[in-house]
Amino acid sequence: MAQILSGLAVAADVKERVRKAVEELKRQGVTPCLATVLVGDDPASATYVNSKQKTAKELGIATRDHRLKASFTQQELLDLVQLLNSDPEVHGILVQLPLPKHIDEFAITSSISPLKDVDGLTPYSAGMLLNNMAHLKPCTPSGVMEILDFYKIDVAGMDAVIVNRSNLVGLPLALMLVEKNATVTVCHSRTKNLAEKLRNADLVVTAVGNRERFTLTADMVKKGAIVIDVGTSRHAGKLAGDVDFDAVKEKASWITPVPGGVGPMTIAMLMKNTVSAASISRVMQ
Ligand code: GUN
Repeated sequence: MAQILSGLAVAADVKERVRKAVEELKRQGVTPCLATVLVGDDPASATYVNSKQKTAKELGIATRDHRLKASFTQQELLDLVQLLNSDPEVHGILVQLPLPKHIDEFAITSSISPLKDVDGLTPYSAGMLLNNMAHLKPCTPSGVMEILDFYKIDVAGMDAVIVNRSNLVGLPLALMLVEKNATVTVCHSRTKNLAEKLRNADLVVTAVGNRERFTLTADMVKKGAIVIDVGTSRHAGKLAGDVDFDAVKEKASWITPVPGGVGPMTIAMLMKNTVSAASISRVMQ
């Protein structure tokens, strides 16, 4: 029976450290400030942005909250990002993804100042991550690494399988795990023999978010494997991950629940990045 990797507990620990860092920065005359930008009215995205705003406020972080109509143009969004880039009171900029189809996401994320890139999505941050020098790393994969670190799980030498190849989760996580000396396989919709690859893995991280397309079942998991579930979707009327939790927990050694696993970590790491960005701004003044 697996032990639970409680993202809630780890997030509480990270947030407590962030709260103290915010107090210290305020004593030095800097109030960390996070600007969030939401285009359109996707309810899931609105929920995420609401949680980010709420958590920031709880930790003493100032916020800006830009909610724009779905018809907002790419140029208008680029202009807003430029405004936030040049506003000395704003330390972190988060443009919630996905953006409406008429907007080129890369054009927007790459226009964010690397100093304010609290999502770690700019080409600069990605390049720094590749060189193991990143100051601001994507929040969800760094949340996964923080959970492993908190529970003292050393991934060196492990065979890790990631089911996701996005620049938000799978690709940066692959770099972070390789940096910690894991051997990483990145899987996706065209992967052959996925179940077999999963059965050989010591560490599985799955981030599909669509239970109809993919469910990680117990027969795909090696006995004693570590299972981290980044997926979130509605399944049977409830929030669910990618993993058939009740069955897989009988085989795994460690497992994250959904909710209360990686989800809270994404927000906690965003807060941590905001404080890091505010600290850099102090040095740059
Ligand atoms: N959409 C889903 N996850 C994220 C995230 O971590 N950052 C942004 N900007 N958008 C997202």
